[in-house]
Amino acid sequence: MNKLIRHAMIVGATLIGLAAAGVAISDSDDYHKDRDHHDEEHDGWIPHRPDVAPVENPRYAEECGACHMAYQPGLLPAAAWQRILSADALIDHYGDDASLGEDTRQRLQAYLSANAADQARLVRARAFAFAVPATTADSADASAGGALPRITMTAYFQRKHDEIPPRLVVENPDVGSFSQCNKCHQDAAAGIYDEDQVSIPGFGRWED
Ligand code: HEC
Ligand code: HEC
Repeated sequence: MNKLIRHAMIVGATLIGLAAAGVAISDSDDYHKDRDHHDEEHDGWIPHRPDVAPVENPRYAEECGACHMAYQPGLLPAAAWQRILSADALIDHYGDDASLGEDTRQRLQAYLSANAADQARLVRARAFAFAVPATTADSADASAGGALPRITMTAYFQRKHDEIPPRLVVENPDVGSFSQCNKCHQDAAAGIYDEDQVSIPGFGRWED
């Protein structure tokens, strides 16, 4: 066999192998596996990839990033966004008035739904899609739009954050609540939530 052809065949076979491995990882619903995969990446040469697709809608970033970070659409399923972006819910938005002009409201509702967790291809965002928002509202929430779905009330979110004590979160004036993703996740705006990018204000890096 011609040396050049043999070389091309080896390269081809390697590429097919890599592609298969990539498919296996991205199709994995096992989040522990996904996490191991991430750890490998940091030690190697592959840079951080977003866990959820970053916000690409300037209007959304402006309107919905005024009081807290503009949450990526991939952090909740479409049904939850529909509910949060309904006109009546925006008037009592977790205790605040976040109402929008009707035209803007409809456009942002469509943007969020089209890019929601249940539409997303990235594994981490899909985890949020499966997580059913809990119905149990804590007492503080009951008077503050507690019926609205929350990212922080999803089972996936709670499983990932259940070891973090309140003194680092609600009792930490530099954080305030779990809703302030970007206070701890330094690259949250880019959709990167990897645990080794976490630095909690006044506490530092998180090792578990
Ligand atoms: C006027 C201020 C304000 C604006 C504007 C605003 N929000 Fe909020 N939002 C809040 C407050 C306050 C909370 C509750 C935060 C907390 O519990 O610490 C909240 C919470 C949320 C949560 C739940 C976060 C969690 O705990 O999981 C989502 C989702 C959300 N907002 C989406 C949006 C979207 C989408 C828009 C744009 C339509 C928007 N917000 C605009 C004030 C605002
Ligand atoms: C008080 C700091 C803090 C806040 C606020 C916070 N997180 Fe986290 N988050 C952490 C820590 C610490 C971990 C790692 C936990 C562990 O693995 O033990 C983590 C883990 C995660 C993970 C899993 C990452 C992985 O590599 O497995 C995701 C996804 C995530 N957070 C999303 C969010 C989102 C979305 C928000 C906002 C709605 C948020 N977090 C708010 C501290 C925070």
